[in-house]
Amino acid sequence: MRLSGKVAIITGAGQGIGAATAFKFAQEKAVVIACDIDFDSVATVVHICRQTGTEASAFAVDVTKREQVDEMVAKVLDTYGRIDVVVNNAGITRDARLQKMTLQQFDDVIDVNLRGVFHTAQAVVDAMIEQGSGVILNASSVVGIYGNYGQTNYAAAKFGVIGFTKTWSRELGPKGIRVNAVAPGFIDTPILSTIPKDVLSKMQKQVPLRRLGKPEEIANIYAFLASDEASYVNGAVIEATGGLTL
Ligand SMILES: NC(=O)c1ccc[n+]([C@@H]2O[C@H](COP(=O)([O-])OP(=O)(O)OC[C@H]3O[C@@H](n4cnc5c(N)ncnc54)[C@H](O)[C@@H]3O)[C@@H](O)[C@H]2O)c1
Repeated sequence: MRLSGKVAIITGAGQGIGAATAFKFAQEKAVVIACDIDFDSVATVVHICRQTGTEASAFAVDVTKREQVDEMVAKVLDTYGRIDVVVNNAGITRDARLQKMTLQQFDDVIDVNLRGVFHTAQAVVDAMIEQGSGVILNASSVVGIYGNYGQTNYAAAKFGVIGFTKTWSRELGPKGIRVNAVAPGFIDTPILSTIPKDVLSKMQKQVPLRRLGKPEEIANIYAFLASDEASYVNGAVIEATGGLTL
């Protein structure tokens, strides 16, 4: 079991990639701390995780609210005395072309996808430094590398997450903490529900593997990066796109 005994916080774990990551981490025997703004969904995820025999807890956490993040981290430290892994997965889209994008759409996406990552990382970093070990994993996107039509806010946030990853890997590497990002292509989760079906089908045709990715295929990457098998991987941005960007 690759994550045996590791205490792992996953944000946005109520559905999609976050839920798949919680299930994968539970199979690998991590202690799963599943957080989401939607408590009911994350409570269901935790119920399923516990069926693997591993410990799991659900927390209602809005990553844009620093006090909620701090409270969750304090409770985890109280209970387990350590935090080994954080997967900064929570994310949203609010798409519009540059001329049409409202300030609200811009701010909402930056708040969750960029500021939220900063909140959670900053909340755990002292504990990780004290332990002399830890792994921080950040959800970027292929859109953060190449941009995408209608996604000014999302592209900026996901590019910013890569900046966080490279900066923190330099700052924290000497303290035994690895920081990496995952940049998925188009993965079949509810986040794609706002994209019209014909556009989705066109996108799939552009992927050399001719299909969308599955949330489990991203969860597998997080599990590898969280594990000691990735002990020399630091400051990396792992693209998982089915070859979309070739
Ligand atoms: N699905 C894709 O194609 C794709 C591609 C590249 C990157 N990503 C990134 O992967 C991550 C997960 O995406 P997904 O497709 O599983 O999305 P999703 O919409 O299926 O799930 C996102 C989860 O985040 C939660 N969430 C939203 N706002 C939150 C907040 N303020 N605080 C805490 N939780 C919050 C939601 O309730 C939901 O459970 C996101 O960061 C996304 O940007 C997804």
